[in-house]
Amino acid sequence: MTSPRRGLARGARISALGVYVPEKILTNDEISGFLDTSDEWIMSRTGIRERRIASPDQAASDLGVIAARRCLESVDMDPLAVDLVIVTTISPDHIMPATASIVADKIGALRAGAFDVQAGCTGFVYGLASAAAFVSANIYERVLVIGAEVLSRMVDWEDRSTCVLFGDGAGAVVVQGADEGSVFHFDLGNDGSGAEFLNIPAGGSRMPASHQTVQQHAHTMHMTGSEVFRFATRAVAESCERVLGDAELGVADVDLFVPHQANIRIIDSAVRRLGFKEDQVFANLDRHGNTSCASIPICLSEASESGRLKKGDRLLMAGFGAGLTWGTCLTEWEL
Ligand code: ACO
Repeated sequence: MTSPRRGLARGARISALGVYVPEKILTNDEISGFLDTSDEWIMSRTGIRERRIASPDQAASDLGVIAARRCLESVDMDPLAVDLVIVTTISPDHIMPATASIVADKIGALRAGAFDVQAGCTGFVYGLASAAAFVSANIYERVLVIGAEVLSRMVDWEDRSTCVLFGDGAGAVVVQGADEGSVFHFDLGNDGSGAEFLNIPAGGSRMPASHQTVQQHAHTMHMTGSEVFRFATRAVAESCERVLGDAELGVADVDLFVPHQANIRIIDSAVRRLGFKEDQVFANLDRHGNTSCASIPICLSEASESGRLKKGDRLLMAGFGAGLTWGTCLTEWEL
């Protein structure tokens, strides 16, 4: 690829990948046993059939630790060789400290700095961009980026319009220096005027925890679905067009498009607008639901295992979510 305006100066590449999803599966039929909904409604409006649910003793860091270990072990990388750990999540273990601090300690990345990136479900793309920037600027050589979510604990299980959408999981990649030129192109964006459309109102400094906030279910995810839907279909298509334009490539040059897995209708709309063919697009939300910051790396793993993503492929990844944020990344797959 060429190194146009927004390309990175020094080469960076994804050099390892690992994922983890909890064993427990929760199907739409099971949810309709305790909520006024149905498999037919959820499937036709979202494309989701089932999702994974973490066990009660698992927090986001626990899922992230397993994914990170699998990632490092896949290429025999010593945790002490990791320079920086970035965790992207909207379901952190705590508001403070960063989940990355806990993960780095547990995996033995004892030389590494650690911080969290919070950019809604776009977190993984923002994390990748941060990692690539550190590597490209020659500050660090190996950055571990982990998307880890236990969203089953952040939703209101009495609110059928949100709880059916989300699932739990984690994925990790290493972003590492590369000898050849730039192989990452990014477009990151934000429209904070839409912050109210997707949020967890309580628990921060705006609305500290109180008996009232608990009674009002204000510590769980609140969403104006139609606004998020409208925003996402437009933002994904426009962001992909900007990245492809920067790289002087067209839709036909992309081997695999991996969008954030929120809703099959959002994916279909963006795919139609961009003009992708069906075999260029990867989706697995029927089995995982929306795992937010973990959705893209889980897709990468499944696409790679099934042969849909091969070494040398041009890969386009697009995220969107709370903020409202969006982010697109074009790279070459080198695993
Ligand atoms: N089962 C049955 N009925 C339901 C359910 C359900 N699970 N959920 C909502 N309904 C009902 C509503 O109560 C409403 O009934 P009413 O007309 O009697 O009031 C009816 O279905 C239609 O509701 P809408 O909200 O208009 O349904 P819509 O077709 O817009 O679909 C959905 C809702 C699926 C949430 C859609 O808006 C959507 O997918 N939005 C984007 C969501 C998303 O992707 N969010 C994540 C973003 S990423 C991140 O950062 C977290």
